[in-house]
Amino acid sequence: MSLTTDISTATSTATSRTDASRRADTRAPLIDVLAERWSPRAYDPTAVIDEATLTTVLEAARWAPSASNNQPARFIVARRGSVSFATIHDALRGFNRTWADAASVLIVSVAQLFIDDTRENPWARYDLGQAVAHLTIQAQHEGLHTHQMGGFDGAAIATAFDLNDDQAVVTVTALGVIGKAADLTPELREREIAPRTRKPLAELLLAND
Ligand SMILES: Cc1cc2nc3c(=O)[nH]c(=O)nc-3n(C[C@H](O)[C@H](O)[C@H](O)COP(=O)(O)O)c2cc1C
Repeated sequence: MSLTTDISTATSTATSRTDASRRADTRAPLIDVLAERWSPRAYDPTAVIDEATLTTVLEAARWAPSASNNQPARFIVARRGSVSFATIHDALRGFNRTWADAASVLIVSVAQLFIDDTRENPWARYDLGQAVAHLTIQAQHEGLHTHQMGGFDGAAIATAFDLNDDQAVVTVTALGVIGKAADLTPELREREIAPRTRKPLAELLLAND
């Protein structure tokens, strides 16, 4: 694939792979992008997301709601092949390093913890998570996949990207075109095809009168 691979190619690649769908077994109907979203570790290492699509995915994060519209979500966006991508990849921990290098883009999610010099934003991480959720769903709509990660050295990322003390590195998200589970190591392949499970809804509802 060239550096300017059209997303229509990427989309058809994603949807034509047998690995692409691991639709949630829901007890009530969901919209397709929610039911179809899942977090693969196999990505096509040649796929490149075109800039318009990447902007659309980031725009979804920008338009997420936030407390008092403070918009504390910040992102470090790194395309595969860039120095930033290598820096973020180097900071990943454990098995995350073994698969995330095939993603087209690594996105570091950063929470701006203070509203101004004196006021802490208690909703900063909540709002950031919500922005990332929007991003993942828009990505799914674009025929892409995402995989959020908490296993990384946040201090290394903060130093490398010169972040301030009031900017917390919260997650790294791999964004790309789904690849083949068969190309993963046996250990990762087992996780890739394991049944997707959730707690029963009743367990989540502390009260439901
Ligand atoms: C905050 C957060 C941190 C995560 N950290 C990792 C991680 O370090 N490595 C990994 O492989 N998956 C990680 N995941 C992915 C979860 O394991 C995955 O979302 C969960 O098992 C549900 O699977 P699904 O997304 O396919 O529905 C993380 C997800 C979130 C939201």
